[in-house]
Amino acid sequence: MNTLTVGMIAGEFHARRVRGLKQDVLRLVEEVIDDGVFHGGRRIRELEATAGERWGGHALCVSSGTMALETAVRALGIGAGDEVIVPALTFVSTAFAVAAAGAVPVFVDIDPSTRTIDPRAVAAAVTPRTRAVIPVHLHGLMADMTAIRAVADTHGLAVIEDCAQAAGATDAGRHAGSMGDIGCFSMWVGKNLGGLADGGLLLTRDPARLPLLRKLTDLGRDGERNTHHVRGSRGRMGEIDAAVIRHQLDLLPAWTERRRAVAARYTDAFAGLPVHRPGDVAGRSHTYYKYPLTTADPAVAASLMAHLSRAGITTEQVYPQALPHQPAMADIPHRVEDIDVSLDVVPRTVCLPIAPELTDQEADRVVEAVHAFHSDRT
Ligand SMILES: Cc1ncc(COP(=O)(O)O)c(C=O)c1O
Repeated sequence: MNTLTVGMIAGEFHARRVRGLKQDVLRLVEEVIDDGVFHGGRRIRELEATAGERWGGHALCVSSGTMALETAVRALGIGAGDEVIVPALTFVSTAFAVAAAGAVPVFVDIDPSTRTIDPRAVAAAVTPRTRAVIPVHLHGLMADMTAIRAVADTHGLAVIEDCAQAAGATDAGRHAGSMGDIGCFSMWVGKNLGGLADGGLLLTRDPARLPLLRKLTDLGRDGERNTHHVRGSRGRMGEIDAAVIRHQLDLLPAWTERRRAVAARYTDAFAGLPVHRPGDVAGRSHTYYKYPLTTADPAVAASLMAHLSRAGITTEQVYPQALPHQPAMADIPHRVEDIDVSLDVVPRTVCLPIAPELTDQEADRVVEAVHAFHSDRT
């Protein structure tokens, strides 16, 4: 075990990734500077065309995943007096986007094995005021879109996919973002596909939605500079980020395969341990933005994290504070259904380092350290 303390294994690897792409990024930045077009140019158009074609819809680049979600909610005409069902286990932006439109987020529970929104909980939470549901493809695995679509169709609800963590994920060959009414991606630098800082993308199969989505993210403009048709946001992406993300879009399939290979290494290695391991589910292919390992109870998870930390391995719990219990929610009208599974699962979970840039040696160190922890306990 003397290898365990050699070098830190970080929880996030985007600095390593961007450094690895440095020459390409510098060339792309130089090209944009030489062209002298920083917004709304050919790189944005090319990213939109390619992402739309590959993921099965029409794409619009925006400034962040949060902006994508806020825009989707507004574009569907959701506002005061409406309710939108969201999972209790998600990043704040999913619920903030609902609140930003003046609507009420309704928190429901997750499926314990996939951690994505439980379609039965969605059905149980519907009221006459419910307008939409936002399944979150958490950790890189798509929610059960077939079941959610069925509930949504029964009750006449719109479906907004939160694909912030799931660029490139599929369900029986259909891409994240192409199965609901509008898909919302984050292209923050640390995501599976990201630019240099923040970015996002909207995807819709219905081209008739594009003009409003565009206006809502360009200060209400419709291509002409001085007329503002609706109250819109400053929500655009820049050409440099578009160029970098377009470059990485070609690398995404290989990166996803690498994430899956690291996950398979973990999953095989932990077969005999008293833990629950993530994986593909019923045709839904995991892209492993995170690798959540679920232990028997919170005390075991805390000791495992401490043990891995002593071995120089950074881990995290996602999200340590339940979203309905975040201080900000005190001022936001919302409703909370039964969320026992969400509250139970996170304190028992340890997310292990995973990234295309993680080496086999580093993955083996993680495996050794997790095994050492379990042998010390027996
Ligand atoms: C599930 C989820 N939704 C929304 C967002 C918001 O995206 P962004 O940080 O790009 O605004 C994120 C990521 O940060 C996320 O993980």
